[in-house]
Amino acid sequence: MSSFPSYRPRRLRRTSGLRRAFAETAVAPSDLIAPLFVKEALSEPEPISSMPGHGQHTLESLVKEGRELAERGVAGVLLFGVPSHKDAEGSQSHHPDGILQRGLTGLKDELGDDFVVVADLCLCEYTDHGHCGLLDGEQVDNDSTLEVYGRIAVSQASAGADMVAPSGMMDGQVGSIRKALDQAGHESTPILAYSAKYASGFYGPFRQAAEGAPQFGDRKGYQQPPENVDEALREAELDIAEGADAVMVKPALSYLDVLRAVKDRFAYPTAAYNVSGEYSMLIAGAERGWIDERQAALEVLTSIRRAGADLIITYHAKKAAEWLA
Ligand code: PBG
Repeated sequence: MSSFPSYRPRRLRRTSGLRRAFAETAVAPSDLIAPLFVKEALSEPEPISSMPGHGQHTLESLVKEGRELAERGVAGVLLFGVPSHKDAEGSQSHHPDGILQRGLTGLKDELGDDFVVVADLCLCEYTDHGHCGLLDGEQVDNDSTLEVYGRIAVSQASAGADMVAPSGMMDGQVGSIRKALDQAGHESTPILAYSAKYASGFYGPFRQAAEGAPQFGDRKGYQQPPENVDEALREAELDIAEGADAVMVKPALSYLDVLRAVKDRFAYPTAAYNVSGEYSMLIAGAERGWIDERQAALEVLTSIRRAGADLIITYHAKKAAEWLA
C-alpha cells in the first residue's frame, strides 16, 4: 500500500456517488424483520408508552400493519401473543385458537408466501409467574418445559407460521422442537434459534409490550451472562447440531463481537435482535433533540449488518424501509 501523499483515503469519500459505489455494507428492507404484538380481547390497538411508534395490536390492526410492512419490502414479522388468560403452565401458548395462533393465520391468509411470518416460541407471556418455562418450586424446570415447547411449535406451524423462533433458552430446546415438528409432519418448518440470548437490561420496554415480566426473581438461571462469548459459541454449536436452520444473537449492540464470532465460526444463517431497549433509548434521545433518529437508526442497522447479521429483527423496520426506499 502506498502512503500519503500518493495515497489519499479522502479521494473515495469526495462525492456521495463514490461513497455509495465503495460501500462495503448494505442494509435493505429485505434484511429486516419487524416484531409485532397481538393482544387478545383488545377492541382498539393500544400504544406502548415505553416504545413510541409501537402498540399492541388487535387481530385486525395486526393484519393491516403486516400489509404495510409487506408493501414497504420488509422481509417479515416476528409475532408475540398476549393472552387474556395466564396460568402456571402457560396453557394458552399451544391452544389452537390462541391469540398468537390466530394472528399467525390472519397474517398468512392476507400476505401469502412472499412475506415471512415468524412465531416467537416462549412461555413468559402465557404463564402467571412470567418465567419462560414450567416451575419446580422457584426453579424453571428444563426438561418438562421442553415437552410444552414441542406442543407450542406444532400449534404454531399448524396455524401457518413460516418459521418458529424458540427464545426461552432451555437446554435441548431446538432438538426437541425439531423432533416434535417432524413427528407432526412439519419437517419443512425451519427453526430460528435464539442461540445466544443474554440476560440483558435492554429488555425493559418489551416486558411492558408483551406483559411477560417475571413475577419473582430474574432470568439469569437460563439466559446467558453478558461476560461470556465462548459460551455463546457453544450455544450456537449445540443449536446447529440439534437442527437449527438459523441462529440468533440478542441483544445486538452490546454483543456485536459475539455476532461476529458466531458468523465467523459457523458461516451459518445468522440473525441479530436489535431489542426494545436499544430502540427506545434511541427514540428517547431523538425526542430530546440530542440525536438524529434517522441517521442514528440507519447507523445502528448498518453496524449490525457489518458485524455479520444476515437478518435484523428491529423495531425500526418500517421506518427504515421508508428511509431506504
Ligand atoms: C421472552 C422475550 C424477551 C424478548 C423477546 N422474547 C424478553 C425477555 O427475555 O425477558 C425481548 C425482546 C426485546 O426486548 O425487544 N421470551
